[in-house]
Amino acid sequence: MTDFAAEIQNFIATYTYYARWSDLEAAVRTLCNNQLSLKSAEIVRLSDENRSIHKTVLEQSETFHESPDDPFPITLVHHNQHQQVIALTRIGRKKDKTKFSDTEKTALKTLHRYLNQQVQYCKDRYIITANLEQQTQAFNAARQEVSQIGRVKDNFLSIASHELRTPMSVIRGYADFLLSGKFGPLNDQQKNFLQKILANVNHLTKLVNDMLDVHKLEAGKMEFVRESVSLRKLLEESVSEHQILLQEKQQTLTFFNPQNVEPTLETDPEKVRLVLANLISNAYKFTPRKGNIEVCLQPQPESDLWLVQVIDDGIGVSANDKNGLFEKFQQVDNSLQKKYTGTGLGLSICREIIQALGGEIWIEDNAKAKSGSIFNFTLPA
Ligand SMILES: Nc1ncnc2c1ncn2[C@@H]1O[C@H](COP(=O)(O)OP(=O)(O)OP(=O)(O)O)[C@@H](O)[C@H]1O
Ligand SMILES: [Mg+2]
Repeated sequence: MTDFAAEIQNFIATYTYYARWSDLEAAVRTLCNNQLSLKSAEIVRLSDENRSIHKTVLEQSETFHESPDDPFPITLVHHNQHQQVIALTRIGRKKDKTKFSDTEKTALKTLHRYLNQQVQYCKDRYIITANLEQQTQAFNAARQEVSQIGRVKDNFLSIASHELRTPMSVIRGYADFLLSGKFGPLNDQQKNFLQKILANVNHLTKLVNDMLDVHKLEAGKMEFVRESVSLRKLLEESVSEHQILLQEKQQTLTFFNPQNVEPTLETDPEKVRLVLANLISNAYKFTPRKGNIEVCLQPQPESDLWLVQVIDDGIGVSANDKNGLFEKFQQVDNSLQKKYTGTGLGLSICREIIQALGGEIWIEDNAKAKSGSIFNFTLPA
C-alpha cells in the first residue's frame, strides 16, 4: 500500500470522529498535502439546528457525485455524535492540474466509495430520525387525545350516575303512581302514553346502568361480593321475576332441572342475576309472540363446573353473525334484528362478569336446529 493510500485509509478510519468543521478542514488539507484544491464555493456549512437545510443538502449531494466534468468528485460528509450531517465538502481536482496517478486514483476511489456509503447512511439516518420524530409527534398527539377522551368519558359517566339516574327514577315513580289509578281514573290513551313513558325511561335506565357497568368492568372497579349461593334457587327466582315481562308477548319461560341437582356455589349472586336478566331479556326480545324460553341447569360433563343454558325458539343467530357477538356494541345487522331496541352492551357485560366469576359464556352452534338460540354459561362449584 502506498503512503498516500495508507494515509487515506487512516483518515477514513478516524475522520468520523472529528467534531468540528475546522478539524475536518485541516484533516482534509493535511491528507491531500495540498495536491487537491478545496473550493470554498463547494463547501457547505450547516448548523446543527438547521434541519431543513440538511435535508436539501442531502438531496443535492446526489448531483455532486454525478457531475460529469469532475472525474473524482468526492463528497466528505461530516456528522456529529448524533449522526446528524453538519457539513459536506466536495474535493475537486489537483491544484497543479496534473493528473492523478493510478495509486492516487485507487485510493481516491476507495475514499469515494466509503464516503458515498456515509452519505447513504446519513440519509437513511435522517429519514429514520425524521420518520421517528413524525411518529413520536403523532403518537403523543394521539395519546393526548385518548387521555382527553378518557377524561370526557369519566366526566360523562359520573354525570350519568349522579345526574341522570335520579331524575329517571323520579319520572318512573310518578308514571307508576299515575298508572296505578290512585290519583284518578285514566282513559285508554292516557294509559297508553304513560306506558310509553315508562318503557322509554326503563330503556334509558338500562342504557345508563350498562354503560356504568362497562366502565367499571374496564377500569377493574366492579366489586364482586361472593357468598354461598344455591344456584337452583337463584335460577328459579330469576325465572319467576321475569314472568311479568314475558306476559306482554304471551311467551312462556320455564325452568328445567333435568338431573334434579342442587349445587351450592361460592359466587356473586347479584352478578349472576344480572347475566340472567340480560340473556332472558335478549331471548324475550328476539323471540316472537307465543314463543318459548327455557332456563336449564345441569352439570357440565367432565368438569366440576355447572352449566346454565338460556334457550329460545326465536329468530336465532346465523353462523356468520356469531363471530364477535360478545364484543361491545356488536349487534346482528339484518332486517329481522333491526326492529329491536338495544345498544349491544348486554352480552359483553355478561362475558366480563362470567369470566371474572371463573366461568365461560358462549352461544351454542345449533346450526342444525330450525330456529332459536342457545346461550350457555358455566360457573365453578
Ligand atoms: N337470543 C337471541 N336471539 C337472537 N339474537 C340474539 C339473541 N341474543 C343476542 N342476540 C344478538 O346479539 C346482539 C348483541 O346482544 P346484546 O345483548 O349484547 O345487545 P342488545 O340486546 O342489542 O342491546 P343491549 O343488551 O345493550 O340492550 C343482539 O343485538 C342480537 O343481534
Ligand atoms: Mg341485550
